[in-house]
Amino acid sequence: MFNQRRFYSRSLDPRHSVRIHSPVNMSTQSRGRVPIEPQCVDAPLTQTATFLVVTINNTPSAVGVVRSVLSNIDGLAKNVSIRDLSAVFACTVGIGSEVWDSLTRLPRPTELRPFATIQGGKHTAISTPGDLLFHIRSERRDLCFEFEQQLLDALGDAITVVDETIGFRYFDVRDLLGFVDGTANPVGPAIPSSIFVSEEDALSAGGSYVVVQKYVHDMNAWNGLATEQQEAIIGRRKLDNVELDDAVSGQQQSHKSLATVEDESGNEHDILRDNMPFGSPGLKEFGTYFIGYSKSLWVIEQMLKRMFIGDPPGLHDRLLDFSAPLTGTTFFVPSLGLLKTLDIKRS
Ligand code: HEM
Repeated sequence: MFNQRRFYSRSLDPRHSVRIHSPVNMSTQSRGRVPIEPQCVDAPLTQTATFLVVTINNTPSAVGVVRSVLSNIDGLAKNVSIRDLSAVFACTVGIGSEVWDSLTRLPRPTELRPFATIQGGKHTAISTPGDLLFHIRSERRDLCFEFEQQLLDALGDAITVVDETIGFRYFDVRDLLGFVDGTANPVGPAIPSSIFVSEEDALSAGGSYVVVQKYVHDMNAWNGLATEQQEAIIGRRKLDNVELDDAVSGQQQSHKSLATVEDESGNEHDILRDNMPFGSPGLKEFGTYFIGYSKSLWVIEQMLKRMFIGDPPGLHDRLLDFSAPLTGTTFFVPSLGLLKTLDIKRS
């Protein structure tokens, strides 16, 4: 049956009509004259991105170095972004649960906790280490490269890189499975109301939770499926991206249905995804780097439970039969205003 709820643009949905103003303006700003500020979670989709996850070393000076680098991240970003404004360079920094207290000495965002392993009947969402996430985006690969180099120089031996993934745009925003990825992202006023913490946690307002998972695909197995089977797994048509109806309750659900989360009142909760393909044909590596931003961590956790455990339990997301997560880590992206205060002396 045609799903009318999905037919209407989410920007017209009255639930999303009220823009929530964050105390610090982190939304997309005028890009003609000035670079995009760091921590701009809703920066534009770009041709390339670097996803850098690091841990902070257990040395006497490490935390101090990291505080200093993070609180001056806007200066570091300007070094690079001003060199080509049309390349829309943007960097967001996320801070992990384990280091939040010692690094920031600020109140904890209420939902910040480590990524919890989810053990499904067949597949497991693993939890992997990470104290800091740098989501570095630009139209130009060289700007991402240059920024990362300057950043790592500044951090020196205060950190250890645990994962560095280079993502690239693949045709019309497709993942390597061949499907357009990102269609159901919120648009317009629904963006800030989906991604920025607001008055429900006033001390963390203007920030955002972010979850990352690095998936690798079994392309031989995926390509062995008929296009109609692939479409049933994703929940959209492959060529023209048209959405398919949800399966009848109790039957195998598609990825887009399992990744749809509603609260008890039937309100749907959106997240902002900026997934990117990565890989190397020579090394036979084909992947999707999942990155999801949300004002509420429980929403992404619930999506993951629905994917790995299934709804009903046992009928997991069939996308996982062809996609294995190598990482799983949660961070909180504080507002730029808050990040800049990190190296202020506190008693
Ligand atoms: C292998 C990794 C993944 C791939 C290749 C993938 C791909 C896709 C594709 C092609 C769509 C349909 C088009 C769209 O609306 O974007 C989609 C939808 C979606 N995905 Fe994923 N996805 C992956 C993992 C995840 C994970 C881990 C989550 C959440 C924790 C997630 C959340 C969503 C959401 C919220 C939607 C939109 C659902 C709706 O229509 O309301 N995805 N994904």
